[in-house]
Amino acid sequence: MRKKIVAGNWKMNKTLQEGVALATELKEILAAEKPNCEVIIGTPFIHLATLSELLNDSVIAVSAENCANKESGAYTGEVSAAMVKSTGAEYVILGHSERREYYHETPEILKEKVDLALANGLKVIFCIGESLAEREANKQEAVCKAELEGSVFHLTPEQWKNIVIAYEPIWAIGTGKTATAEQAEEIHAYIRKCVADVYGAQAADDTTILYGGSCKASNAPELFGKPDIDGGLIGGASLKAPDFKGIIDAWK
Ligand code: 13P
Repeated sequence: MRKKIVAGNWKMNKTLQEGVALATELKEILAAEKPNCEVIIGTPFIHLATLSELLNDSVIAVSAENCANKESGAYTGEVSAAMVKSTGAEYVILGHSERREYYHETPEILKEKVDLALANGLKVIFCIGESLAEREANKQEAVCKAELEGSVFHLTPEQWKNIVIAYEPIWAIGTGKTATAEQAEEIHAYIRKCVADVYGAQAADDTTILYGGSCKASNAPELFGKPDIDGGLIGGASLKAPDFKGIIDAWK
């Protein structure tokens, strides 16, 4: 059975102290009431080492939100996959539409990042998803397929086991506009078919595919109730412990 996951993506929010406070609150809530899914929090680099230690004896795993496409060396301001791994983080989010759009991360750059992340023992939450214009032109399937082909479908079947896909329609991110559960299920099923075409039916069945984009406690049960939606990648609603817990509870 594939893993059910609720993952937070804090994006560029929370000072170190605020992040420690939020992680501590979540740790206590989830220690009192064990979740029915894997829980991950994706945080800025500065939180990783502290939170990995704080959450070491908890059910919560820690993820970075990015890593460099170079191994090491003279790349001022960059953070390598090996450095992320050395903090105790288990995951890295790659391919987020905000990184593709604002930091010009191309499929080739993302492919290098994915390869380095896996080579350094990190698991990858790889994000794909179409813009509003692409959705209106009914190109969502072609866009998702091209993003997979561009950066992750070169991986070996063994490497693929460390990939989680997050489908995040750009028009639903931070907009309050959620894809309907039917819209999301349709494309999740398509993504799983693309995975099956490359890695076979069993691997596709074992692949966790998350939905992201204005997911909250009120719509998570309907989304997660669909057969091909295995959880969520949560932005805004991951910034307050009760909101995030409300989404985790959708798996109850
Ligand atoms: P929101 O949940 O704020 O829409 O963000 C989704 C997202 O981008 C998660 O990576």
